[in-house]
Amino acid sequence: KKPLVVVTRKLPDVIETRMRELFDTRLNETDQPMTQAQLVDAVKSADVLVPTLTDRIDSALLSQAGDQLKLVATFANGVDNIDVDTANTRGITVTNTPGVLTEDTADMTMALILAVPRRLAEGIKIVEEDTWSGWSPTWMLGHRIWGKRLGIVGMGRIGTAVARRAKAFGMSIHYHNRRRVPAPVEEELEATYWESLDQMLARMDVVSIHCPHTPGTFHLLSARRLKLMKPESYIVNTARGEVIDENALSRMLDAGELAGAGLDVFEHEPAVNPRLAKSPRVLLLPHMGSATIEGRIDMGEKVIINIKTFMDGHRPPDRVLPSML
Ligand code: GLV
Ligand code: GLV
Repeated sequence: KKPLVVVTRKLPDVIETRMRELFDTRLNETDQPMTQAQLVDAVKSADVLVPTLTDRIDSALLSQAGDQLKLVATFANGVDNIDVDTANTRGITVTNTPGVLTEDTADMTMALILAVPRRLAEGIKIVEEDTWSGWSPTWMLGHRIWGKRLGIVGMGRIGTAVARRAKAFGMSIHYHNRRRVPAPVEEELEATYWESLDQMLARMDVVSIHCPHTPGTFHLLSARRLKLMKPESYIVNTARGEVIDENALSRMLDAGELAGAGLDVFEHEPAVNPRLAKSPRVLLLPHMGSATIEGRIDMGEKVIINIKTFMDGHRPPDRVLPSML
């Protein structure tokens, strides 16, 4: 008997077709997020659940899972929506899709690093609203990024990929991470390691967030830490909204205590803090960091490989263990 795989959201057509060939697959044709009742029904019947970052797979839900549920193969890199500890204790394996969205997310991050100091969003609005009254030497001036310092918080795959791009744009690379990256990588990037996040924040022109959201990184960029940043500096976040205290950030932007922010992620998605949304100093995107056609197909292929490997009785390549978080 083929395993029953329940998928919570619409996936790329080629991925859904392939899944149908390989498994007994229950798809979500409407792409409406599943209700709590539908999720409960899914964990009671599925051998494999394929959720994504919009589904809360918490201990309450996992405690209702039937014994047949053995794998949660999330269609995402982040696993902050999944109680990996509880899954582990209940003998449910968790996998994610790391690596394949690294370059796309780094591109989107670089786009924000370029766009915010150069006031792209404001410029677009002026043309769209037809309020352009002509060129002037002192009008719409932003800040150059060439020669400036970029501070990367979380130097994993994505942080490193952002560093490579930023270096090519003439920025100097600084980073804070639990561990130092290997010496050859540090040399290639001419990167400076800061053991103290506080000290790094105080000296950067642009800060970009690339750590996962865990209990340890919730509001890592707290009001106190944001206040350490220079008033003429910028912050970019394509990781998870919860890593920044969004209220504190919006207060500081309004008070001119920070020059601007480029945010692709928010604390209460899809709700965007209305005060933040009104700020002229921000460029806000609706969580599009990894949104490429190619990337979504690569993610789907990773999900399929994880399920197949697991079903064949082997260790899936992208298993997530509680110790990794
Ligand atoms: C995107 O944010 C992901 O975690 O895959
Ligand atoms: C994600 O892929 C990371 O490790 O940064």
